[in-house]
Amino acid sequence: MIRAVIKGTGSALPARVMTNAELAARVDTSDEWIVERTGIRQRHIAGEGETTSTLAADACARALAAAGIAADEIDLIILATATPDHTFPATATQVQALLGCKPGGIAFDVAAVCSGFLYALATADALLRTGMGTRALVIGAETFSRLLDWEDRGTCVLFGDGAGAVVLAAEDVGDVGPGDGPGILASRLHADGAHKEMLFVDGGPATTGTVGKLRMKGREVFRHAVVNLSEVLAEVLDDAGIAADQLDWVVPHQANSRILDATARKLGLPPERMVMTVDRHANTSAASVPLALDVAVRDGRIQPGHLVMFEAMGGGFTWGAALARM
Ligand code: UT7
Repeated sequence: MIRAVIKGTGSALPARVMTNAELAARVDTSDEWIVERTGIRQRHIAGEGETTSTLAADACARALAAAGIAADEIDLIILATATPDHTFPATATQVQALLGCKPGGIAFDVAAVCSGFLYALATADALLRTGMGTRALVIGAETFSRLLDWEDRGTCVLFGDGAGAVVLAAEDVGDVGPGDGPGILASRLHADGAHKEMLFVDGGPATTGTVGKLRMKGREVFRHAVVNLSEVLAEVLDDAGIAADQLDWVVPHQANSRILDATARKLGLPPERMVMTVDRHANTSAASVPLALDVAVRDGRIQPGHLVMFEAMGGGFTWGAALARM
């Protein structure tokens, strides 16, 4: 049986750290409000010369080193972002060139905002299992700070910049059961375009001709996130024939520590099994899941053989989950 197996992870963060105290000096907010309502204490903000492609390439270089795979062995790159360097070409093609990956391989971006990494992972999994590629970089990379209205306290305190990447390889894992053996075991993706107004950017090449700024009705998004995530997690567990208490780790999208707590409660899991990085990275949109994964792999929590659930929900709405054995 051919599976897409995670061979290595990497991440990259801009050098500059912005604390809640700095934000409180700019807008009418406080460290206390931000920590209590979101769990966020700081975020990284891209500086001059740091773009989505440079952060992505740095994350990929670390993932390739961890996997022991050379850039010129990569024949598929899928990069999830809502903040591409340019309207086109796809940022994935720039990462291909920056890393010196095999020319002629497949490279494209996916736009599913905070769920982008899940969309990219499921797409790469399908392409690898059907032989369209052999070794893939799956990336979530964002410079969301450039979409923020820095006068809107309801949104500017919530987001940060960064990138995370995984190297996937198509491998014959032999004759294993649905929940056994390494690789991506199951994934589900969903979208419901009826909710655009709850989370969107008020610009774009075909409307205003400007880049625009992020707008969000946070309370409504929160409500939908908890419901949609618990449904999609149940679907993926069911597809894989796995019970929630068999999960070693959940690597969730990092929007708000209260959403993580609610998700853990719904799964009946202790909160310690949720990897949490929202305190130091804030919400990095498509980058948040692979960034959190890399943190937990590098600090030794996530080990080979562990069963790990990924999940995310974002603008659109879009949402999804995937289960992998490391
Ligand atoms: O990644 C994509 C998915 N995104 C999400 O999942 C985000 C989901 N939503 C959330 O995480 C939360 O809804 C927020 C963190 C955005 C907001 O938390 P909340 O507990 O839902 O607060 P709220 O929007 O209901 O606002 C409560 C109060 C309001 O004041 P009034 O109307 O009660 O007087 C806001 O004006 O808090 C006020 N407020 C703030 N106060 C201080 C909003 N932002 C701030 C702020 N500092 N930064």
